[in-house]
Amino acid sequence: MQLNTPFTPPQRLLLGPGPSNAAPTVLEALGKPLLGHLDPVFVGMMEEIKAMLREVFQTKNEMTFPVSGTGSAGMEFCFVNLIEPGDEVLIGVNGVFGTRMCDVAERCGAVVHRVESPWGEIIHPEQIKTALKDIKPKLVAIVHAETSTGALTPLEEISRAVHEAGALFLVDTVTSLGGCPVKVDEWQIDAIYSGTQKCLSCPPGLAPVSLSPAALEIATSRKTKVQSWYLDVNFLAAYWGETRVYHHTAPISMNYALHESLRLILNEGLEARWKRHEANHQRLKAGLSELGLGIASQEGHQLWQLNAVTVPDGVSESEIREALLNDYSIEVGAGLGPLKGKVWRVGLMGESSQSEHVDRFLDAMKTLLKK
Ligand SMILES: Cc1ncc(COP(=O)(O)O)c(C=O)c1O
Repeated sequence: MQLNTPFTPPQRLLLGPGPSNAAPTVLEALGKPLLGHLDPVFVGMMEEIKAMLREVFQTKNEMTFPVSGTGSAGMEFCFVNLIEPGDEVLIGVNGVFGTRMCDVAERCGAVVHRVESPWGEIIHPEQIKTALKDIKPKLVAIVHAETSTGALTPLEEISRAVHEAGALFLVDTVTSLGGCPVKVDEWQIDAIYSGTQKCLSCPPGLAPVSLSPAALEIATSRKTKVQSWYLDVNFLAAYWGETRVYHHTAPISMNYALHESLRLILNEGLEARWKRHEANHQRLKAGLSELGLGIASQEGHQLWQLNAVTVPDGVSESEIREALLNDYSIEVGAGLGPLKGKVWRVGLMGESSQSEHVDRFLDAMKTLLKK
């Protein structure tokens, strides 16, 4: 195949479940000159990434760095390092990503116990407490912000119950980090992962992770080898730590982009950023209600950054979604699993969370629903 022109993507307003739009300086960072991955200048930048990630995760954990891979690599990183065959785990399942965690844990040889809530609802502390009366798992895993449904599970009470039971607490913050409070040390989270393409507003490709000293101790004193060579923290700790032993070639340009996006986040300030996400969610909710539309996830636990908007009777979910993309260049997501055809997933994440974007979406919806 011979092509005469380079690929030129259209300019979309990304209001789906991710990726979100990236700031111009984050995209510019991707085009900066390449450095060798052991170049002292690149190594200095890695240190700044780790320090900024600690601030964003609100942790002092030494073992905090971006895994090379998307959010799912962060999920696998946490499970493969902490689970040995035969270990029992308890996983909250209220959507696609809790289900994925079960699959990943099973592949590590774990005995998986599930605590389930209907899609759109949260995992309640009582459900975890009840389950912990019967089993003694090595770890309990929860998806903080379930992107498939738009529900935000509060973590503090669950964390207390998990630690009282002597287990580790593992949390998915792929959609929550950067868009609403995530406090690793205060909430005593032992293993946490995220992704770059949502509220961090960086392209997809890196998975920030953090392990508490207790989790790291478990990962480094295992009886069996970590199932994954690539994700073994024993190697990655050397690569991202002081010794800088070659393990794999870090995606240089993606790390530049993450560095810039973290710089922007900390310049905005975490509190201010969370408030912006909340305000734009409220603006969307008010506008939707004027159009006679509601949000499907549990009242009181609705995510600011991902809104599962109910499709009214007699309206085709896919026709509207396709018209938004083709006629307005606005991307929104479809519902998944039991919510397929029933909701549009409207993301207001990171750079995409702006009042003018909310208004542009609402105006387009008004016209399309009238048609
Ligand atoms: C809550 C959650 N966990 C995990 C993932 C997986 O991340 P990725 O698609 O970047 O591999 C996603 C992606 O949407 C997510 O929303």
